[in-house]
Amino acid sequence: MLITPRRDNLNKIVVLNPKGGCGKSTLATNIAAHYAQRGPTPAIMDFDPQGSTIAWLERRSAAWPEIHGIAAYKKTMQATRSWQLRVPNETENLIVDSPASLSHDNLRELTRDSTSILVPVLPSSMDIHAASRCIADLLLVAKIDRRDRKLAVVANRTRKRTKSFSKLMRFLDSLGIPIIAVLRDSQNFVHAAEKGMGLCEMQPSRVRPDVEQLDRIVQWLDNWETRRRSVSLAQNRRKQVKVDVAAAGNDNRGFLRRFDFAR
Ligand SMILES: Nc1ncnc2c1ncn2[C@@H]1O[C@H](COP(=O)(O)OP(=O)(O)OP(=O)(O)O)[C@@H](O)[C@H]1O
Ligand SMILES: [Mg+2]
Repeated sequence: MLITPRRDNLNKIVVLNPKGGCGKSTLATNIAAHYAQRGPTPAIMDFDPQGSTIAWLERRSAAWPEIHGIAAYKKTMQATRSWQLRVPNETENLIVDSPASLSHDNLRELTRDSTSILVPVLPSSMDIHAASRCIADLLLVAKIDRRDRKLAVVANRTRKRTKSFSKLMRFLDSLGIPIIAVLRDSQNFVHAAEKGMGLCEMQPSRVRPDVEQLDRIVQWLDNWETRRRSVSLAQNRRKQVKVDVAAAGNDNRGFLRRFDFAR
């Protein structure tokens, strides 16, 4: 079972999509580098047994702003799980990188107390179908209320708008889930990964269009408190008119049925 920390003032960003190779670690490391540059020191928690994010951190030069790494995938005998996963008190932004396949229990556990959930999606129809299934699981299994506005998609390695991409857009649109950025297929991401860097730390003239998109992602992430506030206001309003907030699961199911994703 995964255990993730609970703290009210922590921006816990979960990067998640059970489809392998869709860009979870790439996105997680680039967001971490961005927060490191801005400060205070962010933390990155790696739940993937491949340990790609921790390996990226180990390749990182000491000259670059610090990122606190937590190897959550490691089984330790010496320490309790909560000690192993402790996040420094001064950490404001925690980025969680997840493994390629997740049990329903782990999906629920990983997303519990998250402030933002990012789903990177590749443009192929197989990937888009897998992403739609992943979003359906987030809504139905992890019981993420789409009205909480904590869920967003990042289109990754996108070259052209395909039919399946348009279907994904329509699906997300009807659920009110935004596509907050479109990252191009670029060797810049590969080079940055090799060097333990984020794109924001590379020569600006070379990475400008990519960094612009990453900035959009960080802007959306930075808004987490506003999103949360507006949700609790809306929830209070809903309570006043005696609308049952717990009906979120049914509401999600109704939407998903139209796209053949309901269980
Ligand atoms: N926008 C991009 N342009 C070019 N290459 C990319 C891009 N995004 C990711 N990649 C490359 O694609 C490969 C897979 O990316 P990444 O490791 O981030 O995926 P992942 O979802 O974390 O994979 P896994 O499920 O195995 O953990 C890596 O080699 C990475 O450098
Ligand atoms: Mg990965």
